[in-house]
Amino acid sequence: MIVAVDGPTASGKGTIAKAISAHFGLPHLDTGLLYRAVGRQCALSGGNPDDSDDAFAATAFPDALLADPELRSEAAGGLASRVSLHPEVRQALFKRQREFALQPGGAVLDGRDIGTVIAPDAQIKLFVTASVEARAKRRFLEMQQQGRGITVEEITADLIARDARDTGRTDAPLLAAADAILLDTSDLGRDQAIAAAIAATEARR
Ligand code: C5P
Repeated sequence: MIVAVDGPTASGKGTIAKAISAHFGLPHLDTGLLYRAVGRQCALSGGNPDDSDDAFAATAFPDALLADPELRSEAAGGLASRVSLHPEVRQALFKRQREFALQPGGAVLDGRDIGTVIAPDAQIKLFVTASVEARAKRRFLEMQQQGRGITVEEITADLIARDARDTGRTDAPLLAAADAILLDTSDLGRDQAIAAAIAATEARR
């Protein structure tokens, strides 16, 4: 069983993917982390994230970078969204994601293009959305817990810019697959969102 969980930043897709992974005992890959590692590697090596050669070179990041807490920052998210525009970068990360999806026991992957590009053959596709206000509030609380000084206004501006880049790009834009189940988490608490996602997964299994 392959479970594809897609949606915009701070929609709750990561939390939902982890909960599905724990509930069904499936390995989980947060694919955003791969793009964040490319963005961070590009910055660390003095490259320009908007240059396709520099961004592609950064796809050879060391695996240890995936454990860097800095990858969770808004800055790393912004860099990820810039390097992810280059088709060369998406192609370089494709194999790793596809192999993860094809593990014999199944897998859960979350990202932007799992149901459309990485695993169009997934039995279960969830497209998780929430209003910009709900997402900004969640991201703000998360950043506060991590002790990162950033305002709700800054987060909102960043979310809107990232949504525009992610949905507007020509290669693998953020898009719900035709057969995806839509889950709007704006008015759902964490536990309610998880319960709804697990019920939807059970129903299609
Ligand atoms: O989900 P997360 O915020 O960690 O993703 C960071 C950025 O990486 C996104 O804004 C998006 O541009 C990019 N990304 C992508 N395709 C994926 C996962 C993430 O383009 N499958």
